Amino acid sequence: MGSPEDCNKRGLKAVGPNMTTCHPSYDRSDLLVNCCPPGFQSPVPFVDFQFPDPQSPLRIRRPAHAVDADFLAKYDKALSIMKSLLHDDPRSFSRQANLHCLFCTGTYHQQNYNAPVNIHRTWLFFSWHRMMIYFHERIIGSLIGDETFALSYWAWDIPEGMVIPDMYINKSSSFFHTQRDASHLPPNTADLNYVSDTNLGREDQSDINLSFMYNQMVSGARKTELFMGCKYKAGTEGYCDGPGTIELAPHNALHTWVGSNLNPGREDMCSFYSAGRDPIFYAHHSNIDRLWEVWREVNKYQLDTTDPDWLESFFFFYDENMRLVRIKVGDVLDIIKLGYSYEHVHCPWLNKRPKPSFSPKLARQMLKAKEKENKLQILSTHFSSLDFEPHGRALDASLTVKVRNHQSKKEKEEENVIVVHGIEVKGDAYVKFEVYVNLVDESKISPKFREFAGTFAHIPGVVANKRKIDLKLGVSELLEELEADQDESIWVTLLPRTPSCSNTTIGGVRMEYIK
Ligand code: C2O
Repeated sequence: MGSPEDCNKRGLKAVGPNMTTCHPSYDRSDLLVNCCPPGFQSPVPFVDFQFPDPQSPLRIRRPAHAVDADFLAKYDKALSIMKSLLHDDPRSFSRQANLHCLFCTGTYHQQNYNAPVNIHRTWLFFSWHRMMIYFHERIIGSLIGDETFALSYWAWDIPEGMVIPDMYINKSSSFFHTQRDASHLPPNTADLNYVSDTNLGREDQSDINLSFMYNQMVSGARKTELFMGCKYKAGTEGYCDGPGTIELAPHNALHTWVGSNLNPGREDMCSFYSAGRDPIFYAHHSNIDRLWEVWREVNKYQLDTTDPDWLESFFFFYDENMRLVRIKVGDVLDIIKLGYSYEHVHCPWLNKRPKPSFSPKLARQMLKAKEKENKLQILSTHFSSLDFEPHGRALDASLTVKVRNHQSKKEKEEENVIVVHGIEVKGDAYVKFEVYVNLVDESKISPKFREFAGTFAHIPGVVANKRKIDLKLGVSELLEELEADQDESIWVTLLPRTPSCSNTTIGGVRMEYIK
């Protein structure tokens, strides 16, 4: 597929799949998953992506909780046509669903390299999913001859959208899906930082969700890598595993929250190979896509990556005319040029800045006193090395470590970043732990409070290239709020939230500075 001419001869390390290398992937050791399309063994001719005609009407994506009956009727009709198409047809729902399985479980090798293609937990996360739903939306529209058709988005980040939208629970519609957790259907409020059921009322849950959104979108996302994920380059050495804030949660958390508790991997939504089978997947990802735009806008488009390896990374999708299209990341950075837009909604989380749960001054005094009495579980004495190295310690209990805050080395505009590095997930389950700073009151463990720095949330299903994961959390604003920005060191607490954490080890914790 394609020839090596393409990107990498100019010394680029852009990632792209070799489509003839498709192979079955194991999602769980007891389950063989094969999502390869028919006839993948021989190369299929492709065309390079072209923008749609700028004269064609803009497709306006609307929040799913606010769409009208006309829209629902036409979307329902189109989706049932899509579901009736045969698997041979790349526009069929089963083939659309498999796209996620193909690119997310490592079923392709990269062009020119014996290394798998993976799009999660890297800087390809937002752009790949944008491409997937872009083609999906156009195919849906073309099945009913509607050039204006636009997907709707599940606006789980605003209070009105924090339940599964009604359209998805209507049993007689094509949006209905059985493989979901029945206890999370409306009127249950979505938990954007889901661990296990809390049964909070709508208002309390929504309040926590908004603070959490602030952390993931604003205070924790002030640098490109923190939001977009790590720089994943072509070749066996170029692999990285470092998800951005929004991918970790609400993205992963909600995949888990929606998926069925009766299935081993909470399929369909919670496992990569099966997530695309639930129609709500497309509304979930429209919202992720929208939030990418909100983040870009909030940061005045100043944080966009310009690295050619990112811009030139490419994928293949079938379009509404059943032509195979090669599309690059650089092609999908202007949604108006792509012919769609989002109906604006007000984001109350933009100003939902959390406050300390406890007097910051007192907290630091207490922590120092505890340290003297040796009551903290400090495993490392290498404070000066910046590095806390427990060498693969399992997270079976909460762990507080003192981390050096190298204030003197920090330059202006640099972000303080807590790095939990070398995370190794050994089982294939939902893994969730949270990170707090200068925490003294363990009854106040909530994103509502400023001690919350962020979370690790991992969903099952990527086996290929299982590498150690780095979690990076931007904490400059947090340190200011906790009056700890000038302190020589801070106390970082890792709090396991799922039993699977005892099967998860970490390499260490340190502070880094990102320009
Ligand atoms: Cu490719 Cu929502 O995951």
